[in-house]
Amino acid sequence: MKGIILSGGTGSRLRPITHTGPKQLVPVANKPVLEYAVSDFKEAGINEIGVILGNKGREEIQELLGDGSKHGVDITYIVQGNPLGLAHAAGCARDFIGNDDFVMYLGDNILKQGIADLVDSFEAGGYGAGIALQEVDNPKQFGIADVDDKGNVQRLVEKPDNPPSNLALIGIYVFSPALFDAIERLEPSWRGELEITDAIQYLLEDGYEIDSHIVGGWWKDTGKPEDILEANRLVLEDKTLKSRGTIENGAETSGKIDLAKSAIIEAGAVVRGPVSIGDGTTIRDGTYVGPYTSIGENSTLDGVHIENSVVIGDSEITTSKKIVDGLLGRGANIGSADEYLPEGQRLVVGENSQLKL
Ligand code: G1P
Repeated sequence: MKGIILSGGTGSRLRPITHTGPKQLVPVANKPVLEYAVSDFKEAGINEIGVILGNKGREEIQELLGDGSKHGVDITYIVQGNPLGLAHAAGCARDFIGNDDFVMYLGDNILKQGIADLVDSFEAGGYGAGIALQEVDNPKQFGIADVDDKGNVQRLVEKPDNPPSNLALIGIYVFSPALFDAIERLEPSWRGELEITDAIQYLLEDGYEIDSHIVGGWWKDTGKPEDILEANRLVLEDKTLKSRGTIENGAETSGKIDLAKSAIIEAGAVVRGPVSIGDGTTIRDGTYVGPYTSIGENSTLDGVHIENSVVIGDSEITTSKKIVDGLLGRGANIGSADEYLPEGQRLVVGENSQLKL
């Protein structure tokens, strides 16, 4: 069994964060989203991984994952180039996959349970494909499966106007190499893409059985800022404590704090977990870091009150205003305008930024 991770896409719903890098590199609990997929593969015993690169952020992704050795896996990069759909991306991996079965994982997904159950279930029967499903409230926005009482898949439709169920394809699939012949027969959909959902429907029509697996525990597609914050909240809640940094006497801490080795919580600071703080970051006297916050590397927080937020890193935050539900891009610098006249917010705001003042 091999694995492929799709890491293309434009990340338009995460602008401006994605103006400077791919969406799969946005950190959740101080770990880039893409690394969650790699960890899930490793846990399921899949060590040969193909990472499909789109047009954006190829270098950054290769820099992060390298040849995979630091994660104990073997990574091959495959260039998709233009985003012509998920099935097109899968088709680009044909030579890499050869005659093996493989898992395809959309690189912006994070799920609590990993993929081992899905893989075991596929391997137990001679299936053409296996699909991971979860109930959603908005089935018109997903690929949807019609599944009978025994869990056998009857039909699949991409973003249906009249959804036959609310069981969505969450973006993690297991395939036999029969998929590649189905992909060759696909025509672009109404949105101009080669749809993986249509390819699986072809497999069904060719007489293959499709395994379905309802994913327990949470699953998040991290396409939008609010999804990143929610994924951050969910991961921090589950995370085991790794507090290796310095907490000075006179700092007030409670709850789970994931503190990197060279991070410091100074006397007079208050940190209430679950919180993750990256290497080289200092939380100064008079700062409050509240639950469900991740602060990336090499940042300084001084006198600020921040909660339920993600600070990606290399930031200096010294405002006396409260920051809640924030997603702050790398290098963000947020100071205080209090000592200046005329009074007011002084903003240097990047393209597509979203502020609530
Ligand atoms: C894609 C798939 C869809 C699936 C979804 C999961 O949709 O086409 O079947 O349900 O991922 O996130 P897209 O994100 O391209 O709209």
